[in-house]
Amino acid sequence: MMQKGLLLNGKSVAAHVKERVAQQVHELNKKGIYPTLSVILVGDDPASAVYVRNKARASEKLGIRSETIRLDAATRETDLLDIIRSLNENDQTHGILVQLPLPKHINTDTIINAIHPDKDVDCFHPRNVGLLMLGQPYLLPCTPAGIVEILKHYQIDPSGKHTVILGRSNIVGKPLANMLVQKAPYANATVTVAHSRTQNIDALCRNADILVAALGVPEFVKADMVREGAVVIDVGINRVEDATSEKDYRLTGDVAFEAVKQKAAAITPVPGGVGPMTIAMLMQNTVVAAQHVSGLA
Ligand SMILES: NC(=O)c1ccc[n+]([C@@H]2O[C@H](COP(=O)([O-])OP(=O)(O)OC[C@H]3O[C@@H](n4cnc5c(N)ncnc54)[C@H](OP(=O)(O)O)[C@@H]3O)[C@@H](O)[C@H]2O)c1
Repeated sequence: MMQKGLLLNGKSVAAHVKERVAQQVHELNKKGIYPTLSVILVGDDPASAVYVRNKARASEKLGIRSETIRLDAATRETDLLDIIRSLNENDQTHGILVQLPLPKHINTDTIINAIHPDKDVDCFHPRNVGLLMLGQPYLLPCTPAGIVEILKHYQIDPSGKHTVILGRSNIVGKPLANMLVQKAPYANATVTVAHSRTQNIDALCRNADILVAALGVPEFVKADMVREGAVVIDVGINRVEDATSEKDYRLTGDVAFEAVKQKAAAITPVPGGVGPMTIAMLMQNTVVAAQHVSGLA
């Protein structure tokens, strides 16, 4: 059995994934294929700007070509659609990512649906979401795939385990539930998805063998909500005020880490847990898309 409070080190798992991706990029380069990711950023939201910069940096380190298309916050939806269409048709671009959230005057669904599903490296397009649900995935949703990769790395097999996911977003909760419920290796879980209307959420959490917190509520999961020996995955990234920090804030997850780690068999920290995995899986998706778009897959 696993020791108690094992730290699931997403940073080091992400490094393994990136090593694998860099090797795949190298192989593709030998065939004259240069995986390329196009990232579109609309507006000047500071958090989005940081995410986009991190994606560009990670790409460069792995030999993936990246271009960031920065657009004014007032960009019209039709102009954004034109840019996406031209990237769809451009053979030199393999992955297209539109950084969310978009300004309110742009319909997010319209934009996501316009991205060619073969190049949809976020795995948000209805075709890719449908394929995932049917158990025939092409690209994988980055954060959920990162969570499964952590489980695989530490040989935590969710098969037959009651997995409670807190949060039902299209980015984390729903696609993760879809992945874990599949009849497939490192899946086969019995999944419960909870949300803001869920009753007796504390008792539900205590019933979890694997508890995934993806709500965006700082330290929502307290020690008395966690069963002794459970595996706890903290997806949350929250900024909370902290006068003692240079930046006046610190990052915290959706789990009260210090107390919960005393009870959990294994737990992801924030930062350094799920966060680094998301970018690593985006890099993996870009290579898969490059193989596919180039007719190699
Ligand atoms: N590590 C990463 O790479 C990564 C990636 C994506 C997101 N995140 C982080 O993960 C967190 C969740 O992100 P998201 O995009 O999934 O968030 P989201 O779209 O805001 O969804 C939050 C979900 O949590 C539920 N919820 C909120 N408060 C709740 C409460 N008090 N009790 C029960 N359920 C509650 C909501 O329920 P309703 O549906 O009923 O409203 C919703 O389903 C955020 O902190 C985000 O920053 C991290």
